[in-house]
Amino acid sequence: MTLAEPAVRLLRLLPPEAAHRWTVRLLRGADALRLPLEGGPHRIAPQRAFGLDFPNPVGLAAGFDKDAEAVRAALALGFGFVEVGSVTPQPQPGNPRPRVFRLPEDGAVINRYGFNSKGLDRAERRLAGLRQRPLPGPLGVNLGANRASDDLAADYATGARRLAPYADYLVVNVSSPNTPGLRALQDAAALRGLLEPVQAALEDSGPARRPLLLKVAPDLEPADIDDIAGIAQTPLLDGLIVSNTTVSRPPDLRSPLAGEAGGLSGRPLMAPSTAVLGAFRERLGPDLPIVGVGGIAGSADAAAKRAAGATLIQLYTGLIYEGPALIRAAAEGFRDAAA
Ligand SMILES: Cc1cc2nc3c(=O)[nH]c(=O)nc-3n(C[C@H](O)[C@H](O)[C@H](O)COP(=O)(O)O)c2cc1C
Repeated sequence: MTLAEPAVRLLRLLPPEAAHRWTVRLLRGADALRLPLEGGPHRIAPQRAFGLDFPNPVGLAAGFDKDAEAVRAALALGFGFVEVGSVTPQPQPGNPRPRVFRLPEDGAVINRYGFNSKGLDRAERRLAGLRQRPLPGPLGVNLGANRASDDLAADYATGARRLAPYADYLVVNVSSPNTPGLRALQDAAALRGLLEPVQAALEDSGPARRPLLLKVAPDLEPADIDDIAGIAQTPLLDGLIVSNTTVSRPPDLRSPLAGEAGGLSGRPLMAPSTAVLGAFRERLGPDLPIVGVGGIAGSADAAAKRAAGATLIQLYTGLIYEGPALIRAAAEGFRDAAA
């Protein structure tokens, strides 16, 4: 798309949250006007995973389109699939601003949005509207929990029951660092207690049970990885997404904003999240699908995710710095890598 590069440069002049809001708005407008953008998902290295066909292996990661406003436009830009959310059951505003920070010296972002979400009712309406016409690539729905919920685990079953009819796959996100207590749900006993009611909700939601993935943090100890891998090999899960943002701060970050609280994404996340992906692949063997996400900024990163065992990949922060040309580059890097 010829307009993309200047648009990305202009958007970077805005403060990060405003740039994010405007990007979603512009994509929504492009969709309403049916602008051709890139003309649809790139047809590069098509994949099949958890019963779905992906025109290319590169997805838009959760958190960009939290309220399912730009799905068709993201597919038109070339993505092979889109994951919306995280959606929380009740609408909630998230943390006070500022809550997103660019670290350009590091090719990174720190965010502490804290699950700002327009909630399930709104998401359901938008997704039902979207499904009026076929989509050219799979749509994932990523589920979160309300900060004020007195049963964080139950929020996921509620989300699954309501949104499964519109999703090609669902994601339980217990790895965002900005909701107190959430990441403790990655503990084995807590995870089983959480996933069983979600699976029951999916059974109730119709004849075609939707695949269920778990999104994990990169900040896991080897024992956590063993526990989660054990659960991933039961019928409770169809795949993993590795990984969310990190609460750690590599010592070599150069940006003066490196000390901001929140989850770090982008280039500094590439090595640690790929190492965790590799550790999961080693424990799981070749079959269980893993979506590799964290730090993809070019074709070589996409290739490295595949080499570490990714079945599909996703990106978000790289798009801020590289623009939508990254989507094609990542798909080509994945295609040309050794699996
Ligand atoms: C501003 C921002 C908001 C995010 N919000 C969510 C979210 O709501 N749910 C989620 O599962 N992941 C969220 N993420 C994490 C991304 O989906 C992804 O896992 C992470 O950023 C690593 O990929 P990247 O380095 O390509 O950005 C968010 C990331 C960013 C940068």
